[in-house]
Amino acid sequence: MNRGFYSVQLILQNIRQLVTVAARGAFAKSGHAMRDLGVLDDATVLIEDGIIRWVGASSDFHEPSIADATMLDCSELAALPGFVDSHTHLLFAGSREDEFAMRVEGRSYQEIADAGGGILSTVNATRAASKKELKKLGRQRLDDMLKLGTTTVEIKSGYGLTQDDEIKMLEAINELAEEHYSTVVATFLGAHALPPEFAGNADGYVAVLCQRLLPYIAKRKLAAFCDAFCETKYFTVAQTETLFRAALAAGLKLKRHADQLTQIGASKLGASFHATSIDHLEKIDSDAMEAIREAGSIATVLPGVSFFLNYGYPPARQMIDSGLPIAIATNFNPGSCMSFSMPMMMTIACTHMGLTPEEALAAATVNGAAALNLSHRIGSIEVGKEADIILYRIPHYRHLAYHFGVNHVETIIKRGVILEF
Ligand code: NIG
Repeated sequence: MNRGFYSVQLILQNIRQLVTVAARGAFAKSGHAMRDLGVLDDATVLIEDGIIRWVGASSDFHEPSIADATMLDCSELAALPGFVDSHTHLLFAGSREDEFAMRVEGRSYQEIADAGGGILSTVNATRAASKKELKKLGRQRLDDMLKLGTTTVEIKSGYGLTQDDEIKMLEAINELAEEHYSTVVATFLGAHALPPEFAGNADGYVAVLCQRLLPYIAKRKLAAFCDAFCETKYFTVAQTETLFRAALAAGLKLKRHADQLTQIGASKLGASFHATSIDHLEKIDSDAMEAIREAGSIATVLPGVSFFLNYGYPPARQMIDSGLPIAIATNFNPGSCMSFSMPMMMTIACTHMGLTPEEALAAATVNGAAALNLSHRIGSIEVGKEADIILYRIPHYRHLAYHFGVNHVETIIKRGVILEF
């Protein structure tokens, strides 16, 4: 998808149901505020130069007198903010359908990784791919995500695990950010797994990340965030702490894979660093929930992982009830969640994690934006924000989670540009 229609002024008229997900000045929606979506029937939105300038009831709207304004009749459509997928491993070569078949027959994700599969098998395929090949794969996936209503995507490195291959991944992500309509945010995940070259020497590998890669990445501004897979058999709390100190010193913000397979204190460490988001949380306990709430981090849950690996879900209901701001992301990757459908994640969050459709929507939009420090720009349909708006042919926003497995997208508007398939 590389064509779009741009008009200086775009008016979405008579929108059947407008769901603003308005944050009303807050950084994110927390606890019960996640149910307040700011829904308006028969609404109008005025967009100028890609920015939302007016939102309200159609009866209150006075048409501006610009000759080339484009009007879009939305009387059969619902309008919602574009999804913000704040945790993905989108850039990889190869695929792991053989591991999927093994898991269906009873092998666990970790058993497969221990036998040489898992992340390291994708590392081999990604090292063998050129930057050009990776970009081609990435571009196609970003196109397909846009078609499903996702207008902002975070992409992690972490399938290179050598200096050259991590830089190759980050350059590809940054070039996609320049060239693609989607907003793309780059995260450095050099501490995703221990590369074979450093077997038995995780401390040595972390030292290389801190002393060589982070300064280089920071100098070239190749990543906004630094993440780490702090987990039994991957990186310890102490190693992650060393890495995070170096990342902060280099000027990167923090994200973190925490409490996915075991509870080793990873999310509490993330909270102590005031990480922008702390992600996964399948094994979170109530102390860690409290630490995240006090730190003001976003707790990002990844419903597709528990669904796809068929293991326990994070206690998202309890997290929201305890006042946490929850974001939902796909975690799209070839191992633990081979899906980049945000509506599918919302359905799973509702059916398996006890979120209401309203909470799931807030989690997939404005709170996802907060998990990327972007909620001042995107994630809701409010005056002053970028016009990332999806028009759906549905009678009610609840159909997004309820009528699952179907793409309801009618029109994609990215920063005021109507994208053409
Ligand atoms: O978030 N946990 C670490 N990383 C991914 C899985 C990546 C892979 O299996 O390739 C995750 O689940």
